[in-house]
Formats: sequence, structure tokens, C-alpha cells
Amino acid sequence: MHPKIASLLSRFPRIELIRWETPVQYLPKVSAKLGVDVYVKRDDLTGFGIGGNKVRKLEFLLGDAMAKGCDTVITTGAVHSNHAFVTALAAKSLGLDAVLVLRGKEQMKGNYLLDRLMGIETRVFDVDKTGDLWPIAREVAEELKKAGRKPYLIPAGGASPVGTLGYVRAAGEIHSQMKGLGVEFDSVVDAVGSGGTLAGLILGSALIEAPWKVFGMDVGGFVEGLSERVRNLALDAAGLLGVKVEVPEPEIRDYGFGAYGKIVKEVAELIRFVGTSEGIILDPVYTGKAFYGLMDLAERGELGERVLFIHTGGFPGVFHYGEEMLKLIQKA
Ligand SMILES: Cc1ncc(COP(=O)(O)O)c(C=O)c1O
Repeated sequence: MHPKIASLLSRFPRIELIRWETPVQYLPKVSAKLGVDVYVKRDDLTGFGIGGNKVRKLEFLLGDAMAKGCDTVITTGAVHSNHAFVTALAAKSLGLDAVLVLRGKEQMKGNYLLDRLMGIETRVFDVDKTGDLWPIAREVAEELKKAGRKPYLIPAGGASPVGTLGYVRAAGEIHSQMKGLGVEFDSVVDAVGSGGTLAGLILGSALIEAPWKVFGMDVGGFVEGLSERVRNLALDAAGLLGVKVEVPEPEIRDYGFGAYGKIVKEVAELIRFVGTSEGIILDPVYTGKAFYGLMDLAERGELGERVLFIHTGGFPGVFHYGEEMLKLIQKA
């Protein structure tokens, strides 16, 4: 861990959900194909529940909730939301209650199946993608307050300044692992949904003057005005840390294939390639699209000679959209 990051974060309450540094792994076959050295930071192995990037954010978000004496966590997301499931699971494991306000149709697969299997309270609303769940979450919070509870609201994706600290911390971890490996990354690439992961990486990297440039792969317009939102999140998190730092304009590229959650053949085929060549399973909503972007940019020579991909998890998405992917791959 980079000492500057460790010291800046030391006054923030953090619940230790991740008990190790996630591995950084070299991908020999992908690297040979691209002529660029590709490494993966295995944040799919953060090790709580389904793993993934959200666990890093939750260490600080739930630390904050506990420090404030809250007893119930409320968050929002799509029915297939990785964030919603792992948030509720982590809250429960700490003895807190959780209510998930979800968008979409109830389908007993992927994360929604996990929600139900774990007995997590879900309230599902069949609103379209533009429908804002936040007012509903606030109503739930009011309802709980009237019943004498102390709710803690977490925005979709855990994208708050407190949640952003999770990836500020990850930047410090990456820096020390890079030194340990004796290499220097030219670029770090991640999938961008709500933007908190990218914001944390950008801020953390700026704080330690990291040698790499951070690239965010937009997986399909999850939110409006993504670039501004990411920058504001990074600036707000810097404010929280009490530091003045130059936060660069986020470098975000569109690899959403037209829509968030749109399942496409190119990505399904890439998931098969990475799985069968490296033993790493990507998902069709986030990491598959982001890795597609990585390969495309690497082939164009935009990522330099050594690139680190953050595997942000999302494994249940494979089971949510598996049949759809299979049909696409099988089509001539
Ligand atoms: C597997 C996975 N990868 C990436 C992301 C994007 O992270 P963020 O919301 O911090 O932009 C998410 C959540 O949105 C996710 O579930």
C-alpha cells in the first residue's frame, strides 16, 4: 500500500471485508495476440459474496453506516445488480438490515435469484431505464424512520464520495504491487457504470503521481453526463480527504454497443476467448465490454506497452444472460 494513501485514508472508518491484496496476474495468450503486455488485477476475487469492485466501496460505505449508528441499508439498482446484492449481503453479515429498491422485471436468475435465496428484502418496480429509483428509496427511508429505524442510503453503484474512497485505496495497492513486480504500467483500464470506480482510480492515481493513465470504458450510458459526474465524484472525494489535487479530465471511451445491458455477439465471443485461453471469466454487461475496449485500444497502440485491466467482477451476469449469449455465438 502506498504510504500516502494509507495515511490519508486512516481516519475513515473501514470495515475489512477484503482480507488480502487481490492478485495481479499476467495474461500470456492475450498479450501475445495483442503484442502488448496485459495484466489483470483480480478484483473479481475481493472475496466477499460474489466479489467484485463494489466490495471495495462497501468497506468505506458500511464503515460510515456503522460509525453513524445506522441499522438498515437501502440501495437501488437493476434487478440484475451486482452492487445491490453484495451490498445487502455485506450489511446482513454485519447484523444490519437491508432493503433493495430494484428496477426491472423479477426473473429468478443471476443476482436476483441470489437476493431471494439469501432472504434479502427486495422491492421491484417495473420502470424503464430512465425511471429514477432514488425518490422511491427516500420514501422507503422515511417509512423506516417512522418505524423507529435508522436507515443509511447508498446511491446506485455505491457512487458517493465515501464509496469512491474504495478505489483511491485500490490505486495505492496497485502502485505497491507494480513496484513488487518490477514493471511500470502505462495504462489502467476499467468498466464504467455509475462512475465511482473510475473516479477513485483517477483521484488515487493523481494523489500518488502514478505513472499510468486511467481509461474508463463506458458500458452503455448507465448515467447521463458520465465524464462530468466522474470528475465531480473525484473532486468531492478529494474534498472529503481534505486534499488539493489536480484531477485530470476522465478519459472515457464508449464500448457500450448502443445500450447498457445490451448483450452482443462480439462480447460473447470475447468472453469465450478469454475464458478458454486464460481461465478468466468476464461478464457480458461490464467486464466483457470493457475488455473488448481494452483490446481495441491496445491494437490501436493507445494503451502503451503495459496495461492493467481491473476485473471488477460481475460473475452472476453470465448466468443472467448466458442463454442470450449462447444463442448469439451459435448464430452463423
Ligand atoms: C461487475 C461490474 N463492473 C463494473 C461496474 C462499474 O463500476 P462503477 O459503478 O463504479 O462505475 C459495476 C457496477 O456498476 C459492476 O457491477
